[in-house]
Amino acid sequence: MIHPHGGKLVTRTISGEDRERLAREADRMPQVPLNQRELADLEMIASGAMSPLEGFMGEADYRSVVDSMRLTNRLVWSIPVVLSAKAEQHERLKPGAQVALVDEAGRALAVMDVEDRYRADHDYEAQMVLRTNDDGHPGVQYLKSISPVYLGGKIHLIRRPEHRDFLRYRLQPKETRVLFNTKGWNRIAAFQTRNPIHRAHEYLQKCALEICDGLLIHPLVGETKKDDIPADVRMRCYEELLSSYYPRDRVVLSVFPAAMRYAGPREAIFHALVRKNYGCSHFIVGRDHAGVGSYYGTYDAHAIFGEFDPEEIDITPLFFDHAFYCRKCGNMATTKTCPHDKADHIFLSGTKVREMLAVGELPPSEFTRPEVAKILAESTRSERT
Ligand code: ADX
Repeated sequence: MIHPHGGKLVTRTISGEDRERLAREADRMPQVPLNQRELADLEMIASGAMSPLEGFMGEADYRSVVDSMRLTNRLVWSIPVVLSAKAEQHERLKPGAQVALVDEAGRALAVMDVEDRYRADHDYEAQMVLRTNDDGHPGVQYLKSISPVYLGGKIHLIRRPEHRDFLRYRLQPKETRVLFNTKGWNRIAAFQTRNPIHRAHEYLQKCALEICDGLLIHPLVGETKKDDIPADVRMRCYEELLSSYYPRDRVVLSVFPAAMRYAGPREAIFHALVRKNYGCSHFIVGRDHAGVGSYYGTYDAHAIFGEFDPEEIDITPLFFDHAFYCRKCGNMATTKTCPHDKADHIFLSGTKVREMLAVGELPPSEFTRPEVAKILAESTRSERT
């Protein structure tokens, strides 16, 4: 099975007496509340999904990642994983201190050894990581909403963040690795997604299934922007489709806890590296992966892989062109396989689908399976009542 990024799966969860002791001590430490993105990052660092990271980034790693998409040890890493100070008290914390990382309810989830405290330049970070500092970009809006003072250091998880949803789908990297092993799969394609499944998604997944042993469908269920379809609706669509259109023994559905960064190409690299940690050997990258609006070129997320040696990334990207249904071919295709005119192609943007649903219209079956259209229509109706 493919090795985790950096060679070994990190575990930052402590147990037994150490855990009891640290949990007691955490009550007396300064508390740093985590926002939704940071909570998800904490959980992924602790489970090894973010291997080789052992904590939130210190200044040297942060600057190296922002400037050159590498950690200071030269391993490829494309996205800052950082913890923002929440109060003046945190901005004065000295390296050497220990802090309790707490959830919204004030429960201590982890202890962090503060190794670094530094000031980020958010404009520069946005320009480098998101390739824009336009206020309309959700990632820029996020940066504007947090303190530029970051705290870095290793974490020790004492309690997993509490979840009420998708409990049977929350597999951690060590669990997916065992599962793939048990199934005897060597070539496993991962599919990242934040949108309701449509026929183009299904086409990509099934093309990958033709050449791999198994497929990990890994919908992102962390924070997304307001007008994205909620994760519970997307998961219902998947459950419905898997039962009618997929060979059940060749597909694993599990959720990806991360928040969406909308960082397009850089996020594609991050999405790939993290799926390697879950044990996947291949990663699907289609059109405008992790993009938003028109900030990125359709295939920028393909091109960025060319900036690295394939061995450094190790997981194999499976690039797909823009896919659509062609009336003349009578099937799904891309311009690589279909000679017909654009007028014969059926593809709808997410915005168009939302507009149709808002006026009670169902997207056509060439775009979305009727079972999915029905779920989307119902959820749009219930949202409006
Ligand atoms: S993303 O933010 O997670 O990338 P989405 O869920 O829409 O958004 O996409 C999941 C994956 O499918 C991404 O790799 C994306 O590039 C790809 N994709 C989405 N729609 C198409 C399409 N019509 N043709 C080719 N690839 C697509």
